[in-house]
Amino acid sequence: MKKILITRKLIKSSEDYALKIFNTKLNLEDKLLTQEEIITKSKDCDGILSAITDKLDANTISKLSDSVKIISNFAVGFGNIDIKAARKRNIIVTNTPDVLTDATAEIAMLILLGAARRAKEGIEWANKKNWKWAAYFLIGKQLSGSRLGILGMGRVGRAVADRAKSFGMTIHYHNRSKLDKNLEKGAIYHKSLESLFSVSDFFSINCPATKETKHIINKNSLKHFPDGAVLSNSARGDMIDDDAMVEALKNGKIHSLGLDVYNGEPSIHPEYLRLPNVYVLPHLGSATKKTRIAMADLAIDNIDEFFKNSKCKNTVN
Ligand code: GLV
Repeated sequence: MKKILITRKLIKSSEDYALKIFNTKLNLEDKLLTQEEIITKSKDCDGILSAITDKLDANTISKLSDSVKIISNFAVGFGNIDIKAARKRNIIVTNTPDVLTDATAEIAMLILLGAARRAKEGIEWANKKNWKWAAYFLIGKQLSGSRLGILGMGRVGRAVADRAKSFGMTIHYHNRSKLDKNLEKGAIYHKSLESLFSVSDFFSINCPATKETKHIINKNSLKHFPDGAVLSNSARGDMIDDDAMVEALKNGKIHSLGLDVYNGEPSIHPEYLRLPNVYVLPHLGSATKKTRIAMADLAIDNIDEFFKNSKCKNTVN
């Protein structure tokens, strides 16, 4: 039986599944392991099932035991792992695509709506109990009849597009390449980012975090948006230059912002917490029971598939 380290606590049925097919080291207290602890605990292991909270950088990977052959990330994103360093050490890295698409797209809609319809202020008023209905009370922005720009038309971006269309929005997008018509489903492709920004009354970030997308939303790019645009990010915090965004939120260039992900999670830029027009969630994209079980089981299956066939379809490096 292969031996694996699971770095974070999983939903019980997935832990039981892992225990059935592997000699499994669990983290029952869900203590965040340091890089040193991951190295030590995986010394006698064949594989590691990691989470986005584990920073497996080149230095950590260089110190992993030769016995470790696979890092199976419990996420679709894998920015927490230096995949090139892993390749150099002949360690394959896998992810969990598809199974979290719907849950993440639902959160993308929630933060777009939360920002547009001033849900943060609404909740605060409701909690204070001294609100009264008025024709001009907490007036927000309406999704229907508006243009939604989507950055990144992968699985999640397309699932957001499907949902936004049922809200009566017109879809525009930028992607590394233009999609086939059957995937585009009427969405309008913009080759340049500036062109996409300029038509985005609403905007949803759904691209992966890479060197190219880091701070893609910055002081300069923000100027291209229509005045009073509503922005949202359900992908990774890296895509936004927070200081530039805060300035645009304060001067009204950007009407409001919905966020589920942050630079340097779990910390959140203090202005995002203070500003009334920022609707924040603590990285809940895939947080439904159905999805978290599907993700964990897929991360386990990826390891199993690799050891059975010496390859895995969800390899990313
Ligand atoms: C969640 O953020 C993921 O990448 O799966």
